[in-house]
Amino acid sequence: MTREPERQSPVAAATAVYSASMLRVYDAFVLGGVCPAVWRCPRGVMAAQYDRHISDRHLDIGPGTGYFLDRCHFPTDHPQLALLDLNPAVLKAASRRVARYHPTTHRHNILEPYDLSGLRFSSASLNFVLHCLPGPMSAKAAAFDHLIPHLTPGAQVFGSTVLGEGVPHTPAASAQLDLLNRKKVFNNRKDSPESLEAELTTRFSKVTVTLRGSVALFTAQTHNLT
Ligand SMILES: C[S@@+](CC[C@H](N)C(=O)[O-])C[C@H]1O[C@@H](n2cnc3c(N)ncnc32)[C@H](O)[C@@H]1O
Repeated sequence: MTREPERQSPVAAATAVYSASMLRVYDAFVLGGVCPAVWRCPRGVMAAQYDRHISDRHLDIGPGTGYFLDRCHFPTDHPQLALLDLNPAVLKAASRRVARYHPTTHRHNILEPYDLSGLRFSSASLNFVLHCLPGPMSAKAAAFDHLIPHLTPGAQVFGSTVLGEGVPHTPAASAQLDLLNRKKVFNNRKDSPESLEAELTTRFSKVTVTLRGSVALFTAQTHNLT
């Protein structure tokens, strides 16, 4: 029996929605339709960010269908690729999509500390993940705290997230935000560019936050040891 999202815990509601059947339509509906038409940020903008920042040892958090990993240009033909998600359907779909890279899969809730068997990464992405996480940005930032131990010094962190505040939403975007927050698929009504930048800046160097429609694109680096 599947429970209604409203009756699940916030973390379960925000991850269980990505069922095998949802993932089959996700690329066309969400990335191809909702992103440009509602959030006003075409998927090409996020794809370009992958191409700019992905490294030969990459950890993808919340990979969804694996769309961006499948299309991006790794700096090597044989990257070390790890996929991390709480939802097994996501791990199955994404790992099949990029099977040519022989990814490892890791099932964890990123709001709790996790073990990756000592693997360390020189890049990590959280694309369209933060807006799923419950709580204010200060609570979502636990995902950064739990990620940092798995990164090398100077590693690149990047991603994007739909914001609730501080960006100009169209009426269609406001209506979608209301619906998705009510269903607990999104938890981002209080997320602002300033709160995102503040949480990144306390943990990383070289932080950038760029706005495009309702979306913030961000990049950051782990500190180099001196
Ligand atoms: C909106 S999808 C993004 C998919 C893909 N990155 C993209 O940009 O198309 C969010 C992903 O984050 C995962 N996710 C959300 N909350 C999570 C959590 N607390 N721990 C682990 N994964 C989580 C979901 O299961 C889903 O795969």
